[in-house]
Amino acid sequence: MYDVEKIRAEFPILSRQVNGKPLTYLDNGASAQKPQVVIDAITQAYSQEYSNVHRGLHYLSNLATEKYEGVRGIIARFLNAGHEDHIVLNSGTTEGINMVAYSWAMQRLVAGDEILLSGMEHHANIVPWHFLRERQGVVIKWVDTAADGSLDPQAVIDAITPRTKLIALTQCSNVLGTVVDIKAVTQGAHAKGVPVLVDGSQSAVHMPVDVQDLGCDFFAITGHKLYGPSGSGAIYVHPDRMGEMRPCLGGGDMIREVSKEAVVYNDPPMMFEAGTPGIVQTIGLGVALEHMMDLGMDNIARHEATLRDYAADRFKELNWLNIQGQTADKASIFSFTLDGAAHAHDISTILDKKGVAVRAGHHCAGPLMDHLGVTATCRASFGLYNTKAEVDTLIEALELAHELFA
Ligand code: ALA
Repeated sequence: MYDVEKIRAEFPILSRQVNGKPLTYLDNGASAQKPQVVIDAITQAYSQEYSNVHRGLHYLSNLATEKYEGVRGIIARFLNAGHEDHIVLNSGTTEGINMVAYSWAMQRLVAGDEILLSGMEHHANIVPWHFLRERQGVVIKWVDTAADGSLDPQAVIDAITPRTKLIALTQCSNVLGTVVDIKAVTQGAHAKGVPVLVDGSQSAVHMPVDVQDLGCDFFAITGHKLYGPSGSGAIYVHPDRMGEMRPCLGGGDMIREVSKEAVVYNDPPMMFEAGTPGIVQTIGLGVALEHMMDLGMDNIARHEATLRDYAADRFKELNWLNIQGQTADKASIFSFTLDGAAHAHDISTILDKKGVAVRAGHHCAGPLMDHLGVTATCRASFGLYNTKAEVDTLIEALELAHELFA
């Protein structure tokens, strides 16, 4: 049974107060809190097991290397990748997508080639492609969401032209919570010879992910949203794409030999991991993912679906609340504005006074904000430890904000 109170007790920060009120943490889309096992693993790593990795032959270096490298296998299991060598370790999704831009796309795409994005991408899955537009004349094409916030996979496939060289899509909008049918996209895209990159930053938090079943070419995750440390993450790369990539960051670890005349690279995936990595962050991520898998990704998804449905029902009571994106196929993420002139920042400040943490702003999704015709929204994003009682607290705080600003 999914015992949410027992799970909450594993996250020490959840028992603190904020502004004299119990913390109601609904900003998980920005970054999630950490369970004690992750905090302990970080302390253990620094206090007993720390050294650089891949470099020494001494006891601590071997131990740290073993722990760090063990995480590759944990991530492979978490994503159901075919092999741990299909996992490139990094600092998070932003680095992962930039790596694809520099290591794969930049040398393959020429002026006039097209990259297809949805209109609800996070800046991390937009700006690297603008680099290619600015520097190489690559064309970015967009498929916007429907009025209910959904994204029709067929519309993405229909937008493919003979010049389309990559489709880059989020699996779950960080603003609307919309879940995208990636499998349908990859099937249609691959039939036309187009690879698919998936931004899994939000989706991997809320649902089981199987990259082999999705059939995607790249799948990026970020550790700090997965209840792990910031500065940790990974990208799954299909072996066929891995073979097409050239390293974009040079330095230690990614080489086998360096002389004055030449360099021999390490094998993938290490070829794409230059310099001393986020050793302890990655070890912490491994513990966080084990913790999620122990809870069961299906169980987490079921719990969050109950919360989402409860929140959606309660929001309907507030006829002055405008939820952005009403599609049923969404994760437990809600963006909203209030009728009247109140700015999202003001609303979030009132909520904060009640101990309720939400994000307010453009959510690093400029094109989506333009499409929705808003400059900012508030966003409540639920995680595996949130409760229906916290939905009620949010509703009470919103009612107060409405009273103050109406
Ligand atoms: N990408 C994070 C968010 O959606 C920071 O808030």
